[in-house]
Amino acid sequence: MKAAVITSFGEPSVLRVAEAPRPVPGPGQVLVRVHAAGVNPAEILARAGAFRLRAPAIIGFEFAGVVEAVGPGVDEGVVGDRVAGWPDSATQGSYAEYTVSSNFATIPDGVSFEEAAATVIGADNAARALGLLNIRPGNTLVVTGASGALGGAAVQFARQRGVTVIGVAGTANADFVRSLGATSVAHGPGLVDRIRAAAPGGVDAALDTAGKGLLPALVDLLGGPDRIVTLADRDAAQYGVAFSPGGSGNRDRGPVQEALNLIAAGAWTARIGRSFPLDEAADAHRLVATGHTHGKVILLP
Ligand SMILES: NC(=O)c1ccc[n+]([C@@H]2O[C@H](COP(=O)([O-])OP(=O)(O)OC[C@H]3O[C@@H](n4cnc5c(N)ncnc54)[C@H](OP(=O)(O)O)[C@@H]3O)[C@@H](O)[C@H]2O)c1
Repeated sequence: MKAAVITSFGEPSVLRVAEAPRPVPGPGQVLVRVHAAGVNPAEILARAGAFRLRAPAIIGFEFAGVVEAVGPGVDEGVVGDRVAGWPDSATQGSYAEYTVSSNFATIPDGVSFEEAAATVIGADNAARALGLLNIRPGNTLVVTGASGALGGAAVQFARQRGVTVIGVAGTANADFVRSLGATSVAHGPGLVDRIRAAAPGGVDAALDTAGKGLLPALVDLLGGPDRIVTLADRDAAQYGVAFSPGGSGNRDRGPVQEALNLIAAGAWTARIGRSFPLDEAADAHRLVATGHTHGKVILLP
């Protein structure tokens, strides 16, 4: 099969399309023909070597595609299903024509492979973080990175649950953030004052998905760290803020299925920034590294 194979970790140019063995589904796994792979900030780190993966590696931590075959113990009836989820292995990922998975949701009719691939990691991690914050209908929540994959999902889940949302994003994305049902506030100096002006009744909690040094401002805003969760700021402990790491042990397909069903119902937006063919994976990584993708970056293997 064709895949973006990393033989040594480093610059984006290490992503080179080559022939690789097609994976074989093991017990409980399905073989998926990948039609779209989301490109994530974590994959930028993985490609640069931060995760100390073993080479040769095929990265890509979320996929949308069609079940081609099943491993032992899996019902043959799923062959041909359109599915979106997580590859089981960090080095047999979705930047390839095929991957194997045991954790996936079903893509409803009317939802594209690109939309589905753009939804997996965002919906899962946003839902987990909102659960940790235990927000209630009628609460007011600040979401930073509101124009991004995780932040956009957090805004939409919170709005679905009757929460008022202040979405922090760049000015170029203000209209998009408003379209998700949030009040839009620009990031940059003066952030706390702008949020206070946008939420005169006060703020109950904050979710940081930007990871751009906004925690001191959020602690100031909330009067302490207890009602703040970050998914992205590795300095969280320094401010007493809870950091919620994602990982293979806590992936929940439930919120992914919920978001996909909402897309089909016309009640959820999975914004696509730009799609690239697999042999332009390096350019896809360069775009994601800017931090301003204006929608999910997708690879089409
Ligand atoms: N802990 C976990 O479980 C987990 C899981 C997945 C991802 N993550 C992390 O979550 C973060 C977001 O991922 P993503 O896929 O949602 O990224 P993304 O789609 O690229 O979104 C990035 C967001 O950050 C905003 N941003 C960029 N520069 C900023 C700045 N200087 N100040 C304030 N906001 C800024 C962008 O806003 P504008 O473009 O509008 O300016 C955008 O809303 C990444 O750090 C990723 O590694 C964590």
